[in-house]
Amino acid sequence: MGLLDGKVAIVTGAGHGIGRGHALELAKEGATVLVNDLGATLAGEGTGRDADLTVDLIESRGGAAAANYEDVADVEGAARMVAQAIELFGRLDIVVNNAGIARDATIWGMTEADWDSVIRVHLKGTFAPTQAAVRHWRELSKAGEDVSRGRIINTTSGAGLVGNFGQANYTAAKAGIAAFTQTVSLEVFKLGVTVNCIGPAGATRMAASIPGAGIVAQEPDEFTEWDRMDPSLASPLVAWLASEKAGHVTGQIIRAVGDEIVLMDGWSKGNTIRKPSQRWEASELTALMNADIFHSRAPGLRY
Ligand SMILES: NC(=O)c1ccc[n+]([C@@H]2O[C@H](COP(=O)([O-])OP(=O)(O)OC[C@H]3O[C@@H](n4cnc5c(N)ncnc54)[C@H](O)[C@@H]3O)[C@@H](O)[C@H]2O)c1
Repeated sequence: MGLLDGKVAIVTGAGHGIGRGHALELAKEGATVLVNDLGATLAGEGTGRDADLTVDLIESRGGAAAANYEDVADVEGAARMVAQAIELFGRLDIVVNNAGIARDATIWGMTEADWDSVIRVHLKGTFAPTQAAVRHWRELSKAGEDVSRGRIINTTSGAGLVGNFGQANYTAAKAGIAAFTQTVSLEVFKLGVTVNCIGPAGATRMAASIPGAGIVAQEPDEFTEWDRMDPSLASPLVAWLASEKAGHVTGQIIRAVGDEIVLMDGWSKGNTIRKPSQRWEASELTALMNADIFHSRAPGLRY
């Protein structure tokens, strides 16, 4: 008995890396998986049939899967992807938004295309499949069906939550995905659909592109024993969030890196000063901000 027996899942960007790990894990837990991948380069160029590789792996392990080659950031393409899952497998329960690209550059060297394409694939590529799936579940709900099995699992990154040198486009998109998760979780709450966000890690081609990190890209199925760089280490968390066991968990940002699963607390109120019902004078802020807000620490300098 698997945790996801009888479920149908879409995993985007699942031809390689972290997405492949998720697709294999969901299939291992009994889900039928529509493996989406555009087959693009790390920079988001070109197309290919890379989704077939993961479908073959799932089938060779006795699971059920089919391929989808749509661009997840294309609204019509994402709608076709959702329709394909329903047409092929008769239902849709789970969408894992994982597809991503990287075009790292400092803010002074970043081109408009670097900015637009990274924001597009990550942020719009999370919006479009989510909207298509939620529209489907809403229709079913209006027709009287219980859709509380619906699950959206998005993908942020540690870099998106705390910032990272040379990744203004990527980190802005990844922080945006965390905010998107929280908002959409509120909007679909009444349907019982949950929306959560994971922060994975692993030795994928994306991680291998970090200058000086010394990481060699490897696929999750190449790891035979526990290794903190295995790109599939967040996949059990994805399978659990996708299951009926996690129906009470929504709007959460959870990192799964190495051997840890960490709930991210996010923005919360910190040191506060108050001048009851009066406007501040800029000149009075120097002493108060330094003493009571920053406690004489220099803020913001982490490097
Ligand atoms: N590798 C890490 O350490 C790490 C850390 C934090 C977050 N992440 C996130 O995990 C996710 C997966 O990254 P990865 O490291 O496995 O990268 P990867 O490059 O190995 O895999 C990404 C896949 O997405 C596909 N893709 C790209 N654009 C697409 C599009 N428009 N439509 C459909 N598919 C598309 C690519 O073809 C590729 O197969 C990304 O969202 C990434 O930001 C990765």
